[in-house]
Amino acid sequence: MKYADVYQSWRSDPEAFWLKAAEAVDWTRKPAKALNDSRAPFYEWFGDGEMNTCWNAVDRHVEAGHGDRVAIIYDSPVTGAKRKTTYAELLDQTSRLAGALQGRGVARGDRVIIYMPMVPEAIVAMLACARIGAIHSVVFGGFAAHELAVRIDDAKPRAIIAGSCGIEPGRVVEYKPLLDGAIEQAAHKPDFCLILQRDEKRADLIDGRDFDMADAMAGATPAPCVPIGGADPLYILYTSGTTGQPKGVVRPSGGHAVALAWTMKHIYDIDPGDVFWAASDVGWVVGHSYICYAPLLIGCTTLVFEGKPVGTPDAGTFWRVIQEHGVKSLFTAPTAFRAIKREDPEGKLVGEYDLSCLQSLFLAGERADPDTIEWAQAQLGVPVIDHWWQTETGYAIVANPLGIEMLPVKIGSPTVAMPGYDVQILDETGHPMPPGELGAVAVKLPLPPGTLPTLWNAEDRFRSSYLTTFPGYYETGDAGVIDEDGYLKIMARTDDVINVAGHRLSTGAMEEVLGSLPEVAECAVIGVSDPLKGQLPLGFLCLNAGTEKPSDEVVKDAVKHVRAQIGPVAAFKLACVVDRLPKTRSGKILRGTMVKIADGETFKMPATIDDPAILDEIRTALQGLGYAR
Ligand code: COA
Ligand code: AMP
Repeated sequence: MKYADVYQSWRSDPEAFWLKAAEAVDWTRKPAKALNDSRAPFYEWFGDGEMNTCWNAVDRHVEAGHGDRVAIIYDSPVTGAKRKTTYAELLDQTSRLAGALQGRGVARGDRVIIYMPMVPEAIVAMLACARIGAIHSVVFGGFAAHELAVRIDDAKPRAIIAGSCGIEPGRVVEYKPLLDGAIEQAAHKPDFCLILQRDEKRADLIDGRDFDMADAMAGATPAPCVPIGGADPLYILYTSGTTGQPKGVVRPSGGHAVALAWTMKHIYDIDPGDVFWAASDVGWVVGHSYICYAPLLIGCTTLVFEGKPVGTPDAGTFWRVIQEHGVKSLFTAPTAFRAIKREDPEGKLVGEYDLSCLQSLFLAGERADPDTIEWAQAQLGVPVIDHWWQTETGYAIVANPLGIEMLPVKIGSPTVAMPGYDVQILDETGHPMPPGELGAVAVKLPLPPGTLPTLWNAEDRFRSSYLTTFPGYYETGDAGVIDEDGYLKIMARTDDVINVAGHRLSTGAMEEVLGSLPEVAECAVIGVSDPLKGQLPLGFLCLNAGTEKPSDEVVKDAVKHVRAQIGPVAAFKLACVVDRLPKTRSGKILRGTMVKIADGETFKMPATIDDPAILDEIRTALQGLGYAR
């Protein structure tokens, strides 16, 4: 089989291609049609079908006689715990938790927020919601109470399932006070909370509102799977946009199962029974798709790893896990490899383990720099595959399809468009550009099954964020180039989104938080280059006239405030006070120019700049922070 033939078979008959792919899913009512485009540019896939994602990820493997197969391996160097869960056990736990939710009034279409660390119960919680047709929304544990509150008010959950704590190297992060704070801040109140009590820090439960998750499961009647419409939402996952209000990406059930099952074989070359490890977090899209759903949909073993690539206990942890659990394919963000490489540049620890089970490494979430790819290739001796996608799509737009054929690697390019995606480079007027020219990366509509059909409660925002700039296309927010061979290269974001350690963050959200400090008259946050995390946020603060507080105290407060409001994951530690910000004559802050100065790149003086002298002040301030050198 050749990639070109598979891609062409999709192009020539997308309907037949996706109906064929849909055969990998069990339907309680088979879809007669794949695409419904009667409301274009809003599209619906498999809308006339009926299925249940939990059935497909759990029950059917047990029915087929694979109940003893391991579904989840939990390996937690931060607690010392290791545990295996078979498919039969996963079915029991999932149906009990589903019963506990149902018994307390959660029904099809209700939302449930999940705020949990990297423990298998997080997967059980997601599947339990799917089982009864409730829509889950997982919130990453590194977000603080305010961010959780914003999501509670948008999703309006009937219930919240949370861990009592998470464990970061050297500290226990108590989730419960954050949860209580978020519920207090939010206008919407959930009916009840289920709390996973962890021994590292048990939480005080509020009488009548909070219940111990283990007790609730023990006393529950197991619930069967509820068939739901193919286009009905499975989950909402909030992601950063340009403002402080996150975007609620909606994931439709049927198309998601069809597309993810397709990717496991064709992109990752993974078969039922293989061990697949996505070293990410359930709070991100990689965790949703490749820790939870895709591996289970095809009946393989997924790994839930609660630790870091370094420091838990050392830079050999990944290799220990691969050897011990027989991992066939590892998927992580390049930043994890940069962290390992920094601690063990010669790969001494790699040599201490038998990694013969490992057949491939997949990287995504941020730009994969050539040094990191080459180091990984040399150390592991397996194909290192960069692939490009987004929360919005839920799986790779551009990749090297290892399970079809491995195409020649061009380092710096995530390779070529996957079936379903007609990727084009457009100029400012929306016209396709010739090969080799830089422009906006866009995908011709319709997007394939499983991608976002809309934003939760925000159809207008969906339209304006993605569909308006280039009519007939989905705007990805990335800029890039496609070469003569169809290879894409991603160069930068075209909006105010930055990527810190593979985490997608909004500089606009940080500016909103900084702007709320009483001393701050105006501010700007940019993403500067960082050798470990790819980018780091850096804030410029202009203070109100008459501010008496010393600048270094304002900066300290600003750092504390962002951590408290957005969370430690924002990694906001760099800020400086300046008199003015560089602007165009129409008042637009020249963030792009400041980024270039910080990164020591050459730049053209913007023709519309109001006062070029301000750039010297900015350069001096950046030099004080160790940048612009
Ligand atoms: N709960 C609470 N706090 C969390 C958290 C969580 N789930 N995840 C991260 N944090 C905290 C960290 O402890 C850190 O706090 P600190 O400022 O007190 O040190 C802060 O948020 C920033 O986290 P991070 O950016 O991850 O930095 P780090 O120094 O802890 O680790 C790496 C750096 C590179 C090792 C780490 O980012 C990593 O493993 N990345 C892998 C990439 C990845 O998983 N990407 C997901 C998308 S694929
Ligand atoms: P997220 O929605 O968090 O997955 O972030 C998506 C964004 O991360 C993309 O729009 C890109 O800007 C960036 N990204 C993801 N994968 C890659 C990659 N392989 N190469 C370059 N950038 C990437």
